[in-house]
Amino acid sequence: MEKTTQQLRSSNNRKHMTILGVALVLLLFLPSLVISCKEGEKTSLLGFLDGLSQNSGLTTSWQNDTNCCLWEGIICNVDGTVTDISLVSMGLEGHISPSLGSLTGLLRLNLSGNSLSGALPPELLRSSSIVILDVSYNKLAGDFDELPSTPDQAMKVVNISSNLFTGYFPSTTLEGMKNLAALNMSNNSFTGKIPSTVCVDKPFFVVLDLSYNQFHGDIPPELGNCSVLRVLKAGQNQLSGTLPAELFKATSLEHLSFPNNHLQGTLDPEHIVKLSKLVILDLGGNGLYGKIPDSIGELKRLEELHLDYNNMSGELPSALSNCSNLTTLILEGNFFHGKLSNVNFSTLSNLNFLDFRSNRFFGTVPDSLYSCSNLIAVRLSFNNLHGQISSRINNLKSLKYLALSHNNFTDITKMLRILSSSTNLTLLILGGNFKHETMPDYDIFYGFKNLMGLALNDCSLYGNLPKWLSKLKKLRALLLYNNQLSGPIPAWINSLNFLFYIDVSNNSLNGDIPTALMEMPMLESLANSDVIIFKFPLYIYRFLQYRTTSGFPRMLNLGYNKFTGVIPPQIGQLKELLTLNLSFNNLYGKIPQSIGNITNLQVLDLSYNNLTGAIPSTLDKLHFLSELNVSNNDLEGPVPTGGQFSTFPDSSFVGNPKLCSPMLVHHCSSADAAPAPNVSTEHYIDKVIFAIAFGMFFGVGVLYDQMVLSRYIYFDRIIVAISSSYNRL
Ligand SMILES: *[C@@H]1O[C@H](CO)[C@@H](O)[C@H](O)[C@H]1NC(C)=O
Ligand SMILES: *[C@@H]1O[C@H](CO)[C@@H](O)[C@H](O)[C@H]1NC(C)=O
Ligand SMILES: *[C@@H]1O[C@H](CO)[C@@H](O)[C@H](O)[C@H]1NC(C)=O
Ligand SMILES: *[C@@H]1O[C@H](CO)[C@@H](O)[C@H](O)[C@H]1NC(C)=O
Ligand SMILES: *[C@@H]1O[C@H](CO)[C@@H](O)[C@H](O)[C@H]1NC(C)=O
Ligand SMILES: *[C@@H]1O[C@H](CO)[C@@H](O)[C@H](O)[C@H]1NC(C)=O
Ligand SMILES: *[C@@H]1O[C@H](CO)[C@@H](O)[C@H](O)[C@H]1NC(C)=O
Ligand SMILES: *[C@@H]1O[C@H](CO)[C@@H](O)[C@H](O)[C@H]1NC(C)=O
Ligand SMILES: *[C@@H]1O[C@H](CO)[C@@H](O)[C@H](O)[C@H]1NC(C)=O
Ligand SMILES: *[C@@H]1O[C@H](CO)[C@@H](O)[C@H](O)[C@H]1NC(C)=O
Ligand SMILES: *[C@@H]1O[C@H](CO)[C@@H](O)[C@H](O)[C@H]1NC(C)=O
Ligand SMILES: *[C@@H]1O[C@H](CO)[C@@H](O)[C@H](O)[C@H]1NC(C)=O
Repeated sequence: MEKTTQQLRSSNNRKHMTILGVALVLLLFLPSLVISCKEGEKTSLLGFLDGLSQNSGLTTSWQNDTNCCLWEGIICNVDGTVTDISLVSMGLEGHISPSLGSLTGLLRLNLSGNSLSGALPPELLRSSSIVILDVSYNKLAGDFDELPSTPDQAMKVVNISSNLFTGYFPSTTLEGMKNLAALNMSNNSFTGKIPSTVCVDKPFFVVLDLSYNQFHGDIPPELGNCSVLRVLKAGQNQLSGTLPAELFKATSLEHLSFPNNHLQGTLDPEHIVKLSKLVILDLGGNGLYGKIPDSIGELKRLEELHLDYNNMSGELPSALSNCSNLTTLILEGNFFHGKLSNVNFSTLSNLNFLDFRSNRFFGTVPDSLYSCSNLIAVRLSFNNLHGQISSRINNLKSLKYLALSHNNFTDITKMLRILSSSTNLTLLILGGNFKHETMPDYDIFYGFKNLMGLALNDCSLYGNLPKWLSKLKKLRALLLYNNQLSGPIPAWINSLNFLFYIDVSNNSLNGDIPTALMEMPMLESLANSDVIIFKFPLYIYRFLQYRTTSGFPRMLNLGYNKFTGVIPPQIGQLKELLTLNLSFNNLYGKIPQSIGNITNLQVLDLSYNNLTGAIPSTLDKLHFLSELNVSNNDLEGPVPTGGQFSTFPDSSFVGNPKLCSPMLVHHCSSADAAPAPNVSTEHYIDKVIFAIAFGMFFGVGVLYDQMVLSRYIYFDRIIVAISSSYNRL
């Protein structure tokens, strides 16, 4: 039976007709597909709008006389039932009206990233329709302790993270959520214990995030019953005890993270291998002890291993070489010892971040490390390593951050020559090595094209400030303190356009303080300050979450040297300085009046020089000055009484027999008449009022600086701080 062409054509035509017909029908009915929303639902939505004190222009579309299915952030289904409300990061303020609870067809509610306050209406948590509820990043408060559960809820995702919720884990509330897949309670103030029933009757439970709360007590062994759990995060709590053996029954786990708790015990070799799907293991900042078990090598999918700040010891297992997907290996702050060459790093070709700071490793940097061509940051500081770096380090094209400080590396010339061609290098931290060597002074270092921070402190280096430093055009921070460098500060210093942190203290530098130093662009003005907000995807370890460098002081520290001459009056040009230290030199002459022009100055140390004359009254204009030391000079006359002066202790002024003040041994007589203030009283009062207002505005910033300084006493951290700006990883 053959079909004729005629038949074929007509059947084709018929198909075309049908398609056309469907299209026509669609076209005809399309307008009515946008079915008007139900009046009751519109009222519920308007009730929500009513609860907002700041609706960020929502009212332009949310009008009573229009179809609410067309309102901003609203989606309806074909019946005109509201199914989705998505009003993310709109700056909404006010409270969430319980009226949303009467939207019986609502499936997804996402109000993340607003400033909503008050309670989360129980109606929403008990809704039998809502599947996804995200109210993260708001200012919601209250607790859920007493909420009875609704049976058979549809709820799959609950994100109440980054709010101000308190109280215990809401076990009862969650009881009816049999379909729960993800629960994110992180970054609130929940307290009490993690209940043992978390996974009971929740066969689909995949993600549990409890981090950044105040949970305490043991990790319940019953978490091991969470057979499909893939992500378990409970860092930054007060959990104690050991990792229970039963936990390792949860073999679906891919991400296990309990950093910064009070956990004890060891990493059991038998247990850990059971989690063969692990991708991220983060147990940093606990009290774990013992070795890294050999069996770690069986975790073939492992990408991140964080064991920093524990009490772990022993040698690195060579089996670590088998974790070939590792990108991040953080072992800082333990008692690991032995040679790094135990591990064959050449198999870890994905490694980006390696941090072994502050352990007891010895030997040399293993050759195999130079094959990890994707390394971005390497920190081996504070160990007992020796020898040199191989020129193969230049294979590491992405290397931005290298810290080798406080080991026993030798041959600084060779080290710098090799590293100088590492063009991407941004931070180089080498202090505490090369003891008693000479600072190389050859013009051989044409590289270092991107170096922003250089630390060669604590090396007892001899020699001068070398010319090659002048080629480091991007340098922000130069730390050369605690060496034996001599000679003058060269005039090229002011060609380093970005330099704002200079510490050359405790050397034998001599000569006058050059006027070139009074022309440092970054100390003179904030004009370039945008450039110090680095776009540097640096590994920042858990305590170091700097976002910008604004909290970092602009500093000039020339203390403990042999500088002579007078303090150049042009010093007043360095208006952005926060710290100025010229102590323990041989400076003479007067304290320049112009120091009073460095209006943001917080620390001024001129002690142990041969300065004479009066303390300039302009210094009382320094309203942020929190530390002043002019002791042990030959100053005379009265100590000013205005400004911050009443807050400084006697020790700031001692060792100046000719200084007088009501507080000092030498009281002022009429012969010591105070120098007349150089502004009229009226003018002066204006300034004080301005300063107080200004101080209130900036007070927080000042406080922040001080907190920052006291926390980061290690220079290599300071350097990290200078250059890091970005999120962790
Ligand atoms: C919206 O309009 C309807 C009818 O026009 C009216 O009954 C209702 O009160 C209005 N709702 C609000 C919140 O204004
Ligand atoms: C809510 O919306 C934000 C922004 O689009 C998104 O990142 C987040 O994943 C959403 N929440 C859920 C649970 O899907
Ligand atoms: C809230 O948490 C859920 C589940 O962990 C996640 O899917 C969602 O993306 C998170 N929302 C935001 C804004 O991060
Ligand atoms: C939980 O929500 C926070 C936002 O508050 C988000 O950063 C985090 O990734 C979420 N956790 C999980 C496991 O999705
Ligand atoms: C915690 O929440 C606050 C306020 O929403 C937010 O600024 C902060 O980034 C969050 N912290 C974390 C670790 O998610
Ligand atoms: C849950 O875990 C506990 C202890 O690990 C165990 O005794 C119990 O049988 C488990 N329950 C279920 C339902 O698997
Ligand atoms: C680490 O061990 C030392 C001594 O071995 C002990 O004093 C210290 O408390 C331990 N640290 C933690 C966090 O357990
Ligand atoms: C390593 O990572 C790659 C890329 O993410 C992935 O394809 C591969 O399966 C991983 N290897 C193992 C053993 O999991
Ligand atoms: C610097 O690093 C980037 C990746 O971070 C890379 O693409 C680039 O080739 C590197 N440059 C040099 C000169 O090695
Ligand atoms: C450092 O190395 C030198 C020579 O290599 C050696 O003499 C010295 O003892 C080592 N110092 C330390 C503290 O290990
Ligand atoms: C300070 O001056 C006195 C006398 O003018 C002099 O004897 C002394 O050596 C000077 N001290 C310093 C540290 O220069
Ligand atoms: C302080 O700065 C002002 C304005 O820049 C200038 O006029 C004044 O001379 C300076 N004072 C001193 C003592 O240098």
